[in-house]
Amino acid sequence: MKQLKVIVLGGGQRGQIYTNVMATLPEQFSVVGVAEPGEANREYIRQKHNIPAENCVTSWEQLLNRPRFADVAIISTQDKMHYAPAMKALELGYDLLLEKPVAPTAQECMDIWQQAQRYGRKVMVCHVLRYTSFYSKVKELLASGVIGDVMNITHTEGVGNLHQSHSFVRGNWGNEGRSACMLLAKSCHDLDLLQWLMNDDCDHVHSFGSLRYFRSENAPEGAPERCIQGCPHADTCYYNAVKLYLEDQKNLWFRGAATGMVEPSDEDVRHALENTQYGKCVYKCDNDVVDHQVVNLEFAKGGTVSFTMSAFNKGGRKSNIMGTRGEMFLDFEGDEIKIFHFDTRQFEIIHTRTGAVSGHGGGDDGIVRALYDYLTGVKTADEVSEIGISCRNHLLVFAAEQARHEKSVVDTKTFQQSFVR
Ligand SMILES: NC(=O)c1ccc[n+]([C@@H]2O[C@H](COP(=O)([O-])OP(=O)(O)OC[C@H]3O[C@@H](n4cnc5c(N)ncnc54)[C@H](O)[C@@H]3O)[C@@H](O)[C@H]2O)c1
Repeated sequence: MKQLKVIVLGGGQRGQIYTNVMATLPEQFSVVGVAEPGEANREYIRQKHNIPAENCVTSWEQLLNRPRFADVAIISTQDKMHYAPAMKALELGYDLLLEKPVAPTAQECMDIWQQAQRYGRKVMVCHVLRYTSFYSKVKELLASGVIGDVMNITHTEGVGNLHQSHSFVRGNWGNEGRSACMLLAKSCHDLDLLQWLMNDDCDHVHSFGSLRYFRSENAPEGAPERCIQGCPHADTCYYNAVKLYLEDQKNLWFRGAATGMVEPSDEDVRHALENTQYGKCVYKCDNDVVDHQVVNLEFAKGGTVSFTMSAFNKGGRKSNIMGTRGEMFLDFEGDEIKIFHFDTRQFEIIHTRTGAVSGHGGGDDGIVRALYDYLTGVKTADEVSEIGISCRNHLLVFAAEQARHEKSVVDTKTFQQSFVR
């Protein structure tokens, strides 16, 4: 079995998730380099993989200004920092595991795709949901024709009110100028899934949505700039940062992101609440991404999809897939595929998970395994979320955003052609 050598550029949450999975697959992967400015994160990865000191650096340029010394580069820096390391790593001959979004603009996505073709490299984009047992089963069932031809899908991505406040109001993805629009940052997974499940090309798209709630005019009377400054609404506000970050000791995701540390102390969290965006009143941040959005899609063979993203729920993905022989109800978080068969008029229920699963319903683990299969030729490009497929799906996101801003219907073919050089 060939062992692939890996370097990771951006050793934050995602970089650690993928390299932690690789540590469980020592015959397939060996992590031999890390570029990460945060000392605690860099040190965590160094120790976990016993990486030589000369390959542990503070910025990606320091690993990519040398000749290639590994097979694969994981690009898991923030959204606006994928482009430069991806272009350089491809030029050096690395294959890539590239975090989504590929890049924040359509042109940059196309450039990365073309660079991969120019240097003959393989790039897999982290559309992790495709690699879950759940959606793999749904895809398999649709291909088997169990509900006949798919006519239309309604799909909802419930972001969850707390996840929205953490990531898309206070956090890294709240402001489009700093990262990307909501549809790209969060829902590019959904548009990828929907095109994959429809197994067809989307022809037309329109979209509506806005930032309606997490705005300064909705701040309650007398709320200070930071929750830690003694807010009179502390007991009743769902978004009280002191409660969410300081008092909830178990929420390592929130505490880790707020401090940039793997195991922060209360002191570290308090410091973050006093000094970073994570301590701000949720109504007084610099967020501008939408908190609810709908996208309607028309496909080449006439199928339609209606997609809703919303912050105002517990969180979770649910879908209803309607076919000529039956109907499928999907509850991703509940791990339930419920099929109504037209012939028997009976329901059939399928569960896909056995035991504990890794993050994203097992997708974080699944994508690392699929990466190995793709890079060693066991899987072909059209069996994975490779760069060409992912770029076409990202272009759909950009087309939907154009439609939302213009309040128009966008012809996706014409839109895509405008980016082909
Ligand atoms: N596939 C998914 O489901 C999924 C889920 C969450 C996030 N993401 C994406 O993954 C990416 C990373 O997100 P994250 O949550 O890990 O963020 P993060 O902030 O935890 O990690 C990014 C890391 O990049 C590091 N960095 C900054 N400058 C650098 C440089 N010059 N060289 C090397 N590293 C540098 C930061 O210090 C940070 O640790 C983002 O693009 C995000 O949108 C994908």
